[in-house]
Amino acid sequence: MNDENPRFFDLVGDVRAIRRLKPDPVRVEMIQQVLNAGVQAPSGQNLQPWAFVLVSDPERKKWFADRYAAAMESRFGLPINPGDRPEKHARGQLGAIFHQMDHLHEAPYLLFVCGKRDWPFKVPDAERVGLAPPNYGAVYPCVQNILLACRALGLGAALTTMHQVFEDELHEYFEIPEDYGVVVTIPIGYPEGRFGPVSRKPAESMTHHDRWGNTKQSPE
Ligand SMILES: Cc1cc2nc3c(=O)[nH]c(=O)nc-3n(C[C@H](O)[C@H](O)[C@H](O)COP(=O)(O)O)c2cc1C
Repeated sequence: MNDENPRFFDLVGDVRAIRRLKPDPVRVEMIQQVLNAGVQAPSGQNLQPWAFVLVSDPERKKWFADRYAAAMESRFGLPINPGDRPEKHARGQLGAIFHQMDHLHEAPYLLFVCGKRDWPFKVPDAERVGLAPPNYGAVYPCVQNILLACRALGLGAALTTMHQVFEDELHEYFEIPEDYGVVVTIPIGYPEGRFGPVSRKPAESMTHHDRWGNTKQSPE
């Protein structure tokens, strides 16, 4: 491979959350390719503390979608019943979030990215009470590789975390062992709409040179 790959810079800015998915089937080999991109991510001591639950069974997807919608309603007051929603909720990011919530069970795949529980170094032994959090720091690079790989294959994906509201039930239903936490749920399928550039502030506007507050790079 060449040392430089300029196409990466096009790809990385084109990976927005795709919440409107077609129900059309996606070959499982494509998902395997995506997950194999995920596991190229770095992790402390190369422990690779991730695991995946790939859900395609309609009944299990429906189980998840029902609880997801209930969690959205209880936490954010987003009505489950479309008839109870204000007109303005049909558009923009909220419109897409509602669409995702209403159609979650139709996504070809729901992917749970799980992380082995592991106390961060800074937590002293005496404070290590109960279950450790999943190793988020190690799992998120894997998650980002997954999102990039989906984009590279023309698949839509979006990172969601609302399952945290019903994680105990989730563990029981999907038989996920206690020493793993579910870090994100990613619905995956072909996109209904188009991919598009993300909207982000430029890095220069949040870069401090040599000391915090010095946002102007000194001339060489
Ligand atoms: C830690 C984290 C948690 C997120 N949780 C959710 C979520 O629960 N539901 C959701 O629809 N999007 C979630 N997102 C996606 C963000 O809302 C999304 O990336 C952001 O609004 C920017 O939109 P874009 O990626 O389409 O540009 C999450 C993203 C991150 C990094």
